[in-house]
Amino acid sequence: MINSSEIRDFFPSIGRVDHNNNQIIYLDGPGGTQVPIQVIEAISQYYIRSNANTHGEFITSQETDKVMDDLRLKMSEFLGSDSPDTISIGQNMTSLNYSLARALAKKFNSGDEVIITELDHEANRGPWRVLEEVGVKLIEVSLFQNGGLDYEDFANKINDKTVMVCMGMSSNALGTLNDFILVKSFLPENCLFLLDAVHYAPHFSINVKELGCDFLLCSAYKFYGPHVGFLYSKPGLLEQLETDRLVVQDQKAPYIIETGTLNHAACAGVSSAIDFIANIGDGKSSRDKLINAFSKISSHEFALAKQLYESINNLDKVNVIGKDFSDTKRTPTVSFVHSDYTPQEICKALASENICAWDGHFYALKAIQQLGLEERGGVTRLGISIYNTKEEVERVASVISKL
Ligand SMILES: Cc1ncc(COP(=O)(O)O)c(C=O)c1O
Repeated sequence: MINSSEIRDFFPSIGRVDHNNNQIIYLDGPGGTQVPIQVIEAISQYYIRSNANTHGEFITSQETDKVMDDLRLKMSEFLGSDSPDTISIGQNMTSLNYSLARALAKKFNSGDEVIITELDHEANRGPWRVLEEVGVKLIEVSLFQNGGLDYEDFANKINDKTVMVCMGMSSNALGTLNDFILVKSFLPENCLFLLDAVHYAPHFSINVKELGCDFLLCSAYKFYGPHVGFLYSKPGLLEQLETDRLVVQDQKAPYIIETGTLNHAACAGVSSAIDFIANIGDGKSSRDKLINAFSKISSHEFALAKQLYESINNLDKVNVIGKDFSDTKRTPTVSFVHSDYTPQEICKALASENICAWDGHFYALKAIQQLGLEERGGVTRLGISIYNTKEEVERVASVISKL
């Protein structure tokens, strides 16, 4: 069980109130979560003590090397990988995915086929368009109106010309949990499998070896850290690619897809965010603690999201878009439309009560278009995170019910 008040004490931003003394409620987690004090302190401490570039002979540079090495190690534990050499660091997920796509464009041949989905965030669709410049055919898997992917369509679209499948593990717009295990079973031999874990990583533990993926991407600002992106690559894969890189860059994995000087202070913060999550769990190793932490986090969040879903879905004017909460195959992200107000108007009304929520398509533009919701401004998205409480859900539901 998550002890909400203990967890909340770690987040300084939660104490904020508005001019009417309304306590702030953060339901904007899928766009970026709040940051615990440990992470803020790790970033400050880096600047106070260890600020330097890497690979020097002096103390601050050596401490910076350690920050970076420690982060790769922690991130490999976080993702269940055996080696820190599988973890590349970047500005964000989108930039890393573009770099990967540009490198794969030099490997694939005209006539090859790459699968993307209609449900995915543009960050896992747009970068793959670069493959079209070399004659690779991009094939899109359809989305059902209930927010789920059409797996029959998936199976039908995969054939011996398919060289790669790029899919999200879950939808940042609708909270759908995708059946990536099933999709993996459709893949022909040697077909690359890439997973976008950006919306999944804050809620569930990940084991890249069990997933059998070749690449997996995530972003620390969605799991209580600062803005840093990560690419996991299966050992041996990255070296085979002609990435865009300087001749002075380290010419081996995981560095060969990294460009320029990374944000060392933020990287110190990410390690601290992973420690923060691990400390919620019990276990002998840090990996065990992370797994246990995520089982507590996901059951806490699911219960709150279900409560939120049940309290707003039966309101006459509200229609939740996407899957219901009848089973736990769901992220705690609840998106809805209202018959009288646009998503933007709803978010303004929520903001006037000091409730932070997003409206729009959240870059999952194709999904919102396929659901016929683009013209009406997309959806209002309420995302549950570790620091949310039952009382907050009650307050939000009450505001929505009075609209
Ligand atoms: C599912 C998903 N994929 C990719 C991204 C892009 O991540 P980044 O901002 O790190 O580029 C986001 C960001 O919202 C996302 O939710």
